Amino acid sequence: MSPDATPRSAPLDLCVRPASLAEIIDLRNEVIIQGTGRTSPEFPGDFDPSTVHMGAFVGDRNVGCATFLESSWEDEPAWQLRGMATAPDVRGGGIGARLLRESEAVLAQRSPIRLLWCNARKVAIPFYVKLDWKIETDEFLTPGIGMQRKMTKRY
Ligand SMILES: CC(C)(COP(=O)(O)OP(=O)(O)OC[C@H]1O[C@@H](n2cnc3c(N)ncnc32)[C@H](O)[C@@H]1OP(=O)(O)O)[C@@H](O)C(=O)NCCC(=O)NCCS
Repeated sequence: MSPDATPRSAPLDLCVRPASLAEIIDLRNEVIIQGTGRTSPEFPGDFDPSTVHMGAFVGDRNVGCATFLESSWEDEPAWQLRGMATAPDVRGGGIGARLLRESEAVLAQRSPIRLLWCNARKVAIPFYVKLDWKIETDEFLTPGIGMQRKMTKRY
């Protein structure tokens, strides 16, 4: 997908923007946290000043979320993507792709870092590959989550 292409199926009134943790935490909790055995939906670093929370909204409804934490990948400064989720009833409509693409633009304005990494759940790996992420590791098991691979993307 080209960097500025908007998926035709994305809702026309979709708004993607930096968000507060309060705006996205219910969706994160529903999609990412529930079922993992974690007791809190918060991630370490959620309240760090450098952390960027992004949300996709249709009207007041939060339909997509992602959080970017300052981190490093193989000793190079990088953002760690965590809590990437689209609401179940609107998946497959281009929201996740638009959220990640617009997040890259927001991050590029805030920091010279141009590298992302994440622990990608096995079911989500094809999504990241479509968005030009690169598989970096073999599968590993994360208790409560399942099989994952580390992935990176330069932007
Ligand atoms: C993974 C997830 C965020 C994708 O969000 P989404 O809004 O449905 O993704 P999009 O509609 O923008 O998909 C972009 C492209 O990836 C493809 N895609 C999305 N999820 C896919 C999947 N699980 N398997 C294969 N392809 C997938 C879409 O078909 C689309 O391809 P296209 O451009 O050829 O049409 C969403 O399915 C989700 O929240 N899953 C549960 C939580 C999760 O696993 N999060 C990731 C944690 S690492």
